[in-house]
Amino acid sequence: MYRTHTCGELNLSYTGRQVQLAGWVQRIRKLGGMTFIDLRDRYGITQLVVKEDSSAPVREAAESLGREFVVTVRGEVVERSSKNPKIPTGGIEIALTGLEVLNPSRTPPFTIEEASDGGEELRARYRYLDLRRPPLQEALMLRHRMAQETRNYLSRCGFLEIETPFLIKSTPEGARDFVVPSRMNQGQFYALPQSPQQFKQLLMIAGYDKYFQIVRCFRDEDLRADRQPEFTQIDCEMSFVERDDVLAEFEGLICHLFKSVLDLEIPSPLPRMPYKKAMEQYGSDKPDIRFDMLIHDLTALTRDTEFGVFRNAAYVGAICVKGAAGYTRKQLDELTEWVKRPQIGASGLVYVRCSAEHDGSVSYKSSVDKFFDSQALAAWAQACEAAEGDLLLVMSGPGMKTLEALGSLRLEMGNRLGLRNQGVFAPLWVYDFPLLEWDEETQRFYAKHHPFTAPKPEDLDKFYSDDPRDLEQVNANAYDFVLNGTEVGGGSIRIHDSGVQERMFRVLGMSEDEVRAKFSFIINAFRYGAPPHGGIAFGFDRWCSLFGGSESIRDFIAFPKNNSGRDVMLDAPAGIDALQKKELGL
Ligand code: AMO
Repeated sequence: MYRTHTCGELNLSYTGRQVQLAGWVQRIRKLGGMTFIDLRDRYGITQLVVKEDSSAPVREAAESLGREFVVTVRGEVVERSSKNPKIPTGGIEIALTGLEVLNPSRTPPFTIEEASDGGEELRARYRYLDLRRPPLQEALMLRHRMAQETRNYLSRCGFLEIETPFLIKSTPEGARDFVVPSRMNQGQFYALPQSPQQFKQLLMIAGYDKYFQIVRCFRDEDLRADRQPEFTQIDCEMSFVERDDVLAEFEGLICHLFKSVLDLEIPSPLPRMPYKKAMEQYGSDKPDIRFDMLIHDLTALTRDTEFGVFRNAAYVGAICVKGAAGYTRKQLDELTEWVKRPQIGASGLVYVRCSAEHDGSVSYKSSVDKFFDSQALAAWAQACEAAEGDLLLVMSGPGMKTLEALGSLRLEMGNRLGLRNQGVFAPLWVYDFPLLEWDEETQRFYAKHHPFTAPKPEDLDKFYSDDPRDLEQVNANAYDFVLNGTEVGGGSIRIHDSGVQERMFRVLGMSEDEVRAKFSFIINAFRYGAPPHGGIAFGFDRWCSLFGGSESIRDFIAFPKNNSGRDVMLDAPAGIDALQKKELGL
């Protein structure tokens, strides 16, 4: 037997008991004739003590110990003289009567404690050591709880968990596919699924009216803190539903996870916001509604001016930053540089300080005083609901681009003013997205969500129009679940009519031959009694990281890839040998 208890379990109520523990040596401290050892496993840390009067074999074994040695120890639970109230085992220590080294360890390349001194690259190379640290263990335990709660909840609601294949033909979700060469069909390739989208729709046609799967998805796209090339979705689909049925069903899951994992009551129904409002007021299709600081349209108020930048701009808008009139010139210059960065892409930033005067009036001081008098600036302030002490930040340019830039600035100001507390959660449904997006470069439409998303029934006329301006206005019966400014889930009511689906592919610029080659199976399936259906997929890693209070989804994936898509521990991707290549016909 290696252990009777774990390292997180023992406390004063065990005093006097003979116990056996096993784990890793985190720290060794010598104090006078005594040696204190912190023993760690995934349940916690227990202090061991070797005294001067301990037996010679125990003292000798303690002498030989190093960090990360794996040991099993026997001893008596005793009350500690100096207690550590921060940990559950902090009241006791184990006075050792036996100590056996099960396996020594090389000196680890970084400290394996709550905080580590190792750089990111080094820790990634030794991921199995980093995973011994409590923050990572907590992250994986949270992920486990989320998965279990999801499975139990959805099973209780009548959903069936059904697996779908990984070796498939390309799914058009908008990213690049990862491909796998076929040995038995040389010169041909499987694609790894970007999501099980088509399979879950086929399952609806097959009559499995409530499906879910916690499933790996693969997308070859540029990586960011919230994107991995392989990531996990809670993928769901239902038949005989309209949008509000889907939202209501999954609000149940959302509230359940908040309650069971974080012990937070989330009032249902969750707030909902149409896409148009999200863009106009938050400059984002995934608004962070933990704070206001809305965008206000100043276009009409800034038309009649000598200031060419505003006069010629399609759109002028502003955010009002409460209590920030004291921002110094230097800070404002720095903000201007910030918005000019390529990621934001604004051409500049105009500010108006609304300051209180001694006589109780409000004065307006702006970077465009040459062009706008106090009265004009007061009108802007009124439109933005600004009061004394507030700062207006104004931007101009093409409509959508300027709204997005203002949206980014809003988030940045929210960060600077501490309005984006990770412990506060503001869930939101965003709905009525445009169905299509025009791409100037390739001169064609792309599906904003994916090509299986249904147009809203009231927009069907426009959907069949040949005028691109009509098509641009078609709304999709699609919705996103947004949490604290992150898109956690996305879904839609699907097309279930083969004619509408064919029209969709044509609108996306595919020829009849192309549609036949790529999608004949799904169009055909729609001809055999496809029920109305819809669904959603949640980004599981993102959801875990938000619940765990982290920016990076990597912390919640046991073995993630770095920003270049590499697994630095395995050193993958890597070349393959000549024989393998030959077999694959490469
Ligand atoms: P979508 O493409 O919106 O929808 O993906 C659903 C959710 O998955 C998460 N996500 C990612 N997470 C980590 N890394 C990535 N590279 C990544 N890409 C997406 C996001 C996103 O909201 N088949 C549809 C769903 C449906 O229509 O039912 C789909 O995959 O949180």
